[in-house]
Amino acid sequence: MNPLRALIMAAARNEAVRSLVASAPISRDVVRRFVAGETTQDAVAVTRELGLPVTLDYLGEDTTDEAQAEQVVRAYLELLEALHAAGLASKAEVSVKLSAVGQALDESLALTNASRICAAAGQVGTTVTLDMEDHTTTDSTLRVLTELREQWPWVGAVLQAYLHRTLDDCKSLSGNGSRVRLCKGAYAEPASVAYTDPHEVDLSYVRCVNALMAGDGYPMFATHDPRLIEIIGERARWYDRARDSYEYQMLYGIRQAEQRRLGARVYVPYGEQWYGYLMRRLAERPANVTFFLRSLVSR
Ligand code: FDA
Repeated sequence: MNPLRALIMAAARNEAVRSLVASAPISRDVVRRFVAGETTQDAVAVTRELGLPVTLDYLGEDTTDEAQAEQVVRAYLELLEALHAAGLASKAEVSVKLSAVGQALDESLALTNASRICAAAGQVGTTVTLDMEDHTTTDSTLRVLTELREQWPWVGAVLQAYLHRTLDDCKSLSGNGSRVRLCKGAYAEPASVAYTDPHEVDLSYVRCVNALMAGDGYPMFATHDPRLIEIIGERARWYDRARDSYEYQMLYGIRQAEQRRLGARVYVPYGEQWYGYLMRRLAERPANVTFFLRSLVSR
């Protein structure tokens, strides 16, 4: 990992830096570039404006008590209700971080809470995808996924191409009805579990594309990388995949013209806890740091 990225990733986990940045006079523009806003209404408004399918993420990570987890669940229930009321539920699903609903406290609490969100999603006719966090949570997240899929077979999960294990996970999750969102991976991981050379990560991504395309599931390719997007299109032809049997996904605020060209699903984060998410987006690109710093001085 390059030194700047490592520094920002460390800052993302550092409480002192977190409160410093959170209290800094950050212009709304820099946050709004990557985050839809802080409220349910903001999330619904952005969903309507985008005119593309979306997956909405209520920002909140590393929940340390049950009350906080409960607040996150309630936010998702309110969101699903609001999407339904606005007639948007068919094109808007939700993405859930298990750490936000209690995974670090107790896996069964996360399962119970995620089940409540899945039940509400099912009622309004949409789906849920589990985000994937650092590698210490992968096994737990996949166990919860298996449990959830017994009742709601459409629950999906993210797999991260940078982990050595992911090709095997792709193979075992490529069956009929499965929904896998394949991304490169955004956490600072050790070389013992992850590829650290970006080229190795890309090669792993392509191997995973092959495994998912060869299966019968519904792959969701979450990347902005033009080379990978081209390869995915080519592999779709090779595996004779109909265009509606897989999809592209991108993050809110990144490569918007390409999102429209591909009809991609847009991952739209919202909520007051935008800090960790923003830091990961900044860490991905030095140009974003310049944009961020400029916004601090040019308000
Ligand atoms: P890469 O980082 O190589 O970027 C390719 C190109 O895309 C860049 O050259 C640039 O043009 C553009 N780009 C990428 N990031 C940018 C940025 N921040 N700002 C501006 N331009 C940028 N990760 C994870 O660990 N767990 C998860 O659950 C998820 N979930 C998820 C959902 C969705 C829908 C997406 C698209 C991504 C994720 N991720 C994630 C994040 C993912 O792991 C990865 O960090 C980013 O997608 C960046 O990787 P790319 O594949 O885009 O390639």
